[in-house]
Amino acid sequence: VKLMHVDTSPKSTSNSRMLGQYFVEQLNRNTRTLSVDYLDLSVDALPHVTEAFAAATYTPTRQRTKGMAATLEQSDRLCARLLDADALLFAMPMHNWTMPSTFKTFVDAIVRTDLTYTVTDDGRYIGKLFGKKVLFLTTRGADLRPGSPFNGMDALTPALRAAFSFIGVTDMTFVDAQPMQFASADARAQALIRARGELAAVADTWTGIRDAAAA
Ligand SMILES: Cc1cc2nc3c(=O)[nH]c(=O)nc-3n(C[C@H](O)[C@H](O)[C@H](O)COP(=O)(O)O)c2cc1C
Repeated sequence: VKLMHVDTSPKSTSNSRMLGQYFVEQLNRNTRTLSVDYLDLSVDALPHVTEAFAAATYTPTRQRTKGMAATLEQSDRLCARLLDADALLFAMPMHNWTMPSTFKTFVDAIVRTDLTYTVTDDGRYIGKLFGKKVLFLTTRGADLRPGSPFNGMDALTPALRAAFSFIGVTDMTFVDAQPMQFASADARAQALIRARGELAAVADTWTGIRDAAAA
């Protein structure tokens, strides 16, 4: 069983990194054959979309020049890693109500015609990441849950949902740790306890992974 684990936080000591690690430990407890393909976007950051990338990605594969193919190489490799994984863990802080820009450049690199989605002759879009379990683990400084003044400010969850359902993900789980910063020590501690509980429960529901590995 292959898990692709992507960390995003710019901080080396980070809530999302720590909780992501906790989730992997829980999975490891359940799944003896877990192998992890790890990517740290704060170290291996992807470039912003350039004019050359935009031109190359929308040129049909067989018509691409060598230069275009070279422009797409890094993105090609990343798509292959995603497609190769059985499950995906994306751990990230909320930055200004949405995803960190490092994760946005990742999304821009992995939404690729003919690699992660195809367009049928009759104009339908078919994502290729169906069948993969995906966990989005997000950490937020504020509390955006119902009843909070920040409820309604979450531009992160819908953005992730849209991008990943476009490439075929149907099995998405969200664990949002909040409030992690702008709150009392007690509220932060409670948020961590809640998040750990949810992560342990998700690891247990991913036992389909364990069963498949044991089979
Ligand atoms: C540049 C920046 C922007 C942030 N914007 C938000 C925000 O819009 N809403 C929020 O709730 N927290 C925001 N935060 C707080 C982080 O989401 C919070 O501290 C989180 O726990 C950080 O996770 P990490 O430790 O994994 O980096 C922001 C933090 C930074 C550094």
